[in-house]
Parts: sequence; C-alpha cells; structure tokens
Amino acid sequence: MNNTQVVIAVAYTVAVAIAGVASALVLRSTREKRRGAVDEARLSRLEGRYGVLVVGFLLVLLFATIFSVPYGKTNADEGAQIVRVTAQQYGWAVQPSTIQANRAVDFRLVSKDVQHGFGVYDGNKLVFQVQVPAKDQPEQRYVTSFDEPGTYEINCLEFCGFQHHAMRGTLKVE
Ligand code: CUA
Repeated sequence: MNNTQVVIAVAYTVAVAIAGVASALVLRSTREKRRGAVDEARLSRLEGRYGVLVVGFLLVLLFATIFSVPYGKTNADEGAQIVRVTAQQYGWAVQPSTIQANRAVDFRLVSKDVQHGFGVYDGNKLVFQVQVPAKDQPEQRYVTSFDEPGTYEINCLEFCGFQHHAMRGTLKVE
C-alpha cells in the first residue's frame, strides 16, 4: 500500500469505528426503561460537546488526507517534452506521437469541437486520463512521465457522439 492508501484505510477504519460506537449508544438509549423528565440544559450541553467532537474529527481527517489528494501536475520544468494533443470527432492528433521514457512530458490538449476524454492505456490498465474541454476553452495541461517504453493506447473517455467508441489512437514511448 502506498501512503495515500494507508491514510484512506486508517481514516475509514476510524470513521466506521465511531459510527459503530454512536449506533451502539443510540440503540442502548432506546432500550432504557427509565423515562423521566428530559433535562434540557444537560442535553444541550452534551449536544455542544458532541458537536465540537464531530467538527474536530472532520478537521483532523481533512488535514490528514488533503495533502495526499492526487491532483495532476500542470507545470513542467524546462526541458520537458511538449506533446500537443488535438481532439476532434472522432480522432486524435498527437504531436509528436513518439516520446522518450523517463523524461517529463508536458501534454497540452485542445478540442476542435465538443468535450473529449484523453485516456492513456497500458494494455487494459488506465494510466491516466485528462478531460479535454470543448473548443474555445483554455488549453488543458497535464505533466507526467513514462517509466516503461512501449506502445500506449489512447481511448476517448467522454461520450462525444455517435462514433465515440471508435475515437482511438496510440502513443509510442521509447
Ligand atoms: Cu471523443 Cu468520445
């Protein structure tokens, strides 16, 4: 497991444990025989304390996980290989279509018509995908690098019309 998966596993375990304890407490309180007058002042104090606990717990979760959110990089250092991708119903123009492994690749994507999804596959495995906004929208950018040489498949991952499924291409990594 990588760091993100560990953080997610711990966060979910804690959340499920807290939900379990809360459910048990509620269940127990519904079975209490003693039903006297409700002490509203005490209830309101307890509610305040639970509120602080819940907000505190959510803040801890937020700061424990937010730095692991896998947002893609959109800025490349100098020397990156620039690849211009133009999407059009129903094909991809990728220039250049052959790039080098283990060097930053700066993808710049535009569409000549509607929105498309630039999905790069290694066999059946999706390596990454980037939305390509419809025409006249700002160019989309994504920076990554390829460790493994090979021929990668490109599939459109945004329904863009009748021949969407046929909108394919390849990217060669040497
Ligand atoms: Cu282009 Cu679907």
